[in-house]
Amino acid sequence: MKKLSPSRVVNIADLRSMAKRRVPKAVFDYLDGGAEGEVTLRENCRAFDDIVFRPRHAVAVGDCDLRTTVLGTEISFPAILAPVGYSRLMHPGGEVSGARTAGKAGTGYILSTISGHRLENVKAATQGPAWYQLYLVGGREAAEGAIERARKAGFSALVITIDTPVAGMRERDLHNGTSELLTGNLFAKLPYLPEVLTHPGWLISFLLDGGVPRLENVVVAGENGKGMPMLDVGTALRESVVTWEDIRWIRHSWSGPIVIKGILTADDGRRAVDVGAAAISVSNHGGRQLDNVSATIRALPEVVAAVGGQTEILMDGGIRRGADIVKALCLGARAVLCGRAYAYGLAAAGEAGVARALEILREDVERTLRLLGCSSVRELNESYVRFPSEWAKAVK
Ligand SMILES: Cc1cc2nc3c(=O)[nH]c(=O)nc-3n(C[C@H](O)[C@H](O)[C@H](O)COP(=O)(O)O)c2cc1C
Repeated sequence: MKKLSPSRVVNIADLRSMAKRRVPKAVFDYLDGGAEGEVTLRENCRAFDDIVFRPRHAVAVGDCDLRTTVLGTEISFPAILAPVGYSRLMHPGGEVSGARTAGKAGTGYILSTISGHRLENVKAATQGPAWYQLYLVGGREAAEGAIERARKAGFSALVITIDTPVAGMRERDLHNGTSELLTGNLFAKLPYLPEVLTHPGWLISFLLDGGVPRLENVVVAGENGKGMPMLDVGTALRESVVTWEDIRWIRHSWSGPIVIKGILTADDGRRAVDVGAAAISVSNHGGRQLDNVSATIRALPEVVAAVGGQTEILMDGGIRRGADIVKALCLGARAVLCGRAYAYGLAAAGEAGVARALEILREDVERTLRLLGCSSVRELNESYVRFPSEWAKAVK
């Protein structure tokens, strides 16, 4: 394949190829990979193929309206940037670049707890809505500190991810020595260094950026107010399970809207409504946690049937084209969260790569709408698609 620049890439798969060339294998596989046999990772994308469009032809569409509102705030098109941990390893701009580009595109950005940039700097970089995604890494005190900082900085919603009681088994990371490269001593790193040295462009920018960043928003005792050093996140996550009970105390610390991310069943959708979630995201963490769970687009109709109308429903997982976004909206999502689609752009070319990813998705959505004969994303509904009937069966 010829060398690409962000302005010449045609689709998200091209950005993925660019990212694969620019960053070391350990970083690329961390971004690209999933859990165990990666069944859910593959299925998240493939399941979109089971949905076919039912267009209305010979319709004058005029100006296509891509705007929608999420948690009462207007966004320019129905895709928000999902929380992606360790974005600063992909490119020094990391989370700041993600937020800034989202803001310029008129949409929202969700900052992961696993962030190498201070949340205040991330918020300051964007004019658009910014939400903070909370893990209980570092314990309750660290979480309360982060919640308070997020409130002061102007984050408008808290996203609580509930599908990570332990880090998923990402076999690619073990093969690549990712943990040794991030936290090990020189001897532990040695076997894995040659691969890194063959990506000098990435390596120089990483070293100029100060090397492995701290978790700037997880402040724990004994670190003099600094962020927690990069650690074995597997261990940290195991000690930071979020339960429905925790969501009740978090409610007391955070008076703004709460979004619960990681719903896959009608039952959990109802529990999220019971604890007062203003929105939920139907999500399996991009196939990175429990493998062999349902593709999220497949789980969406069950959750919509159970709690549609009682909370705003978002979904994430497998979005690689604007047509995927349109299909999710037809099945009842208000908007989607994109993870890898923009993170490939970040790893490929920093801000320019994220901007190109968003431009591609936006143009795709508009073209798809015109081809469907539908003038607004808010008018999309099930009548524009056909999908397997068993998806719609709500589980009691
Ligand atoms: C590299 C990477 C890191 C992620 N880190 C987080 C995280 O820190 N917190 C979180 O809630 N979800 C995290 N996710 C999951 C995403 O928010 C989202 O659910 C997922 O990427 C959606 O699937 P997609 O990548 O196919 O769009 C991460 C995903 C990726 C790819």
